[in-house]
Amino acid sequence: MYTAVNRNASTISFWSYRLARLCRSRLSTSVDIKKTSTNVDTAQELANIEACKNPRKENEVLPRIQIVRVYRWNPERPQVRPYMQQFSVDLNKCGTMVLDVLTFIKAQHDPTLSFRRSCREGICGCCAMNIDGINTLACITKVKESPQPLVIYPLPHTYVIRDLVPDMEQFLGQFQKIDLYLKRSGEDDYLGMRQILQSPKDRRKLDGLYECIMCGCCTYSCPPYWWLGDKYLGPAVLLQAYRWIMDSRDMAHKERLAKLRDFYSVYRCQTIFNCTKTCPKGLNPGKAIAELKRLLAGLTNKRKSDLDTALPNPCRKE
Ligand code: SF4
Ligand code: SF4
Ligand code: FES
Repeated sequence: MYTAVNRNASTISFWSYRLARLCRSRLSTSVDIKKTSTNVDTAQELANIEACKNPRKENEVLPRIQIVRVYRWNPERPQVRPYMQQFSVDLNKCGTMVLDVLTFIKAQHDPTLSFRRSCREGICGCCAMNIDGINTLACITKVKESPQPLVIYPLPHTYVIRDLVPDMEQFLGQFQKIDLYLKRSGEDDYLGMRQILQSPKDRRKLDGLYECIMCGCCTYSCPPYWWLGDKYLGPAVLLQAYRWIMDSRDMAHKERLAKLRDFYSVYRCQTIFNCTKTCPKGLNPGKAIAELKRLLAGLTNKRKSDLDTALPNPCRKE
């Protein structure tokens, strides 16, 4: 009996001892976990405070420096010959197009830099210039980040008014020769009073022609125009001439063709297709000139329109 009681007592004391140890170890583990998580929280907080104190260090973006070389000439200082001025532009600080870079240079580096721009979306044709050797529109040309400098000249073979501003007087004056409007003799007194019909099929013939924005990129990339610009009309003007000749509503195509039938106006085109290659609107003036030549040579004729709108008869008080 004594032995059994004694045994029971020792068993109880053994298990109470184990239980106490277990509790102690559990307790100490949870305290350790608490300690560790507190440490992690504190480190995170410190890091957050540091980030708030120095936000730039965290989000710092490395500068993307692009060298830009721009043609400069100022008529007010004729003793200074034209030269190329170099600018270092951080592309992170300006827009993505060449026109944005020029605007940034004008705002931040040199307010005397001159260039034309208006719509900044490839509609007005003002910002035509030679960018890295290609005549194109600055507002729709993306800047390629490169170790090579971005080189910008005015349109080649133009008289320069100042910096990147070319004299387009001769080019724009030549459009007058081709009469950029609908010609319907007998319709003049009735303009705006009625619709002149055109079938969808006839309308589609003007696609690829009417989109021309008269920027001059094609004309100033055309070698015959460089040498004979005063007599040869050049691709932009001839594309427009073809557009009005092909318009099914126009009634003066014979008169228009007669105006172009001379040694220089059309036939100086050597079908080199520089014009088509450079057009920023993706048009094909070279093909239009080839079609014009066929019309002039009588190899093809203007098709009869699908829908005719008879000229008004003043006797019937139409
Ligand atoms: S054909 Fe193209 S490059 Fe030539 S003036 Fe028109 S839009 Fe400009
Ligand atoms: S195809 Fe004719 S218009 Fe076009 S660049 Fe060549 S020569 Fe000039
Ligand atoms: S600004 Fe108008 S076409 Fe470039």
